[in-house]
Amino acid sequence: MEILHISAECYPVAKVGGLADVVGALPKYQNKIGHIAKVVVPAYETKFVRENEFDVAYDAWANYGNNHFQFRVLKEKTNKLGFDLYIIHIQGLTDRPNVYGYQDDTERFVAFQIAVLDWIVQWEHRPDVIHCHDHHTGLIPFMVSNSIKYTPIRTVPTVLTIHNAQYQGQFGWEKLYYIPAFDLWKGGLLGWDDAINPLASAIKCAWKVTTVSPSYLGEMMGNARGLESLLRQESWKSVGILNGIDTEVWDPETDPMLVKSYNLKTIEAGKLANKKALCDVFQLDSSKPLFTFIGRLVDEKGADLLPDIFNTALQQHGDNINVLVLGSGDNWVEGRLNQLKDIFRGKYNAYIGYNEQVSHEMYAAADFLLMPSRVEPCGLNQLYALRYGTVPIVRRVGGLKDTVIDIGDGGFGICHDQTSIWDVTQAINRAVELHKNKKAFKAVRKTMMKIDHSWDKAALNYIELYQILK
Ligand code: ADP
Ligand code: GLC
Repeated sequence: MEILHISAECYPVAKVGGLADVVGALPKYQNKIGHIAKVVVPAYETKFVRENEFDVAYDAWANYGNNHFQFRVLKEKTNKLGFDLYIIHIQGLTDRPNVYGYQDDTERFVAFQIAVLDWIVQWEHRPDVIHCHDHHTGLIPFMVSNSIKYTPIRTVPTVLTIHNAQYQGQFGWEKLYYIPAFDLWKGGLLGWDDAINPLASAIKCAWKVTTVSPSYLGEMMGNARGLESLLRQESWKSVGILNGIDTEVWDPETDPMLVKSYNLKTIEAGKLANKKALCDVFQLDSSKPLFTFIGRLVDEKGADLLPDIFNTALQQHGDNINVLVLGSGDNWVEGRLNQLKDIFRGKYNAYIGYNEQVSHEMYAAADFLLMPSRVEPCGLNQLYALRYGTVPIVRRVGGLKDTVIDIGDGGFGICHDQTSIWDVTQAINRAVELHKNKKAFKAVRKTMMKIDHSWDKAALNYIELYQILK
């Protein structure tokens, strides 16, 4: 089958979070099992876009409301990512360093979606499936089914994967004229709660809807930022498919970002070498258990509680633990996490910002990784932690619930029920006890490293899903 993935992020072209990791890996694995999967993302001004060579695949003008824009579809020359990568350059809209966060994000992503469809509608490679990821590509299912100029591709099935329903991309009806002409009585398919809602529209119009873990699908029926009833209504075409990880990028045996590589046999020495190196950089003591957090500092991750959690845990455990944080997001949380550096010098440190290299070093060096998420559609951090022999401490929610089994239940992680200071500090207490029992701790590490979360299975699950649509 020929599959076209359309997304705002794709690792290593442009990454903000796990969406990029999924779109950078799933197509590669679909190609490995004999299909043709391609990826389209906006041409941001990122390092990857600057440093790689592209051919012009298409160059045109598109109508945009009362205006128009010129765009170029560029194809990466070498296929180095394991799939054909197309980036769409729209002068003045995509050519910026960041993926999100601009005042005109609506205009940027609506224009991107129109450019993609203007290109596909005249393309000789008609895909068998158009696979959209999150709200930034959520208007595509509507436009494919309803916009008059896209009639030639109306029979191409569209699939929506919801990576995160916290963000829906709503904008006012006054911008309806951006959407290429359609029979106006179908306009209701674009809206939800008095606004145009790209995520809601995609849930209504896509032929199939998937979520990135089975538990998240169930949870969304009760809590999805206002979309609960819609998800219940469309549950007949929805399915949860658990994400995998790219085991070529995330492999402690070959990871070039580590000071020492390791495998199941050399795990103890390997992790210790990485821990020593990282602790030196961050002025921590490598003889103590190292607790870490990596991620976006936003409410859904429980980041607002982290300063109090670390304050409590570090007071309680005195000189027996170390903490290292890597993340960026909410200014207030960033500030409070920075303040703790002075209070707990030598026991606590934080890197406020985004750094792929440091994240790999941390998965390898850490003993424990905290994920006290309020909402976690899948979560990839815990999967990377498992592969690097780091014990995940997670709240039982979404994909965390589907991938981490508590050691008390014969598993390998530490689970808690609530995103609360009490629950997380209790979990840290359990972790400290586990760490003292060297034999049990080593055994848990080995168990985790043996777990297979590669994309092989999920890539096939998606293919089976597309095949139903043919
Ligand atoms: P989400 O997509 O909700 O942010 P995931 O767990 O699915 O959460 O994926 C997060 C991804 O982003 C992982 O690859 C993680 O290592 C990475 N990441 C998050 N924050 C940072 C950061 N500050 N620096 C480097 N990598 C980060
Ligand atoms: C989202 C979710 C995260 C998931 C990722 C990849 O950003 O927040 O839980 O792992 O997408 O699907």
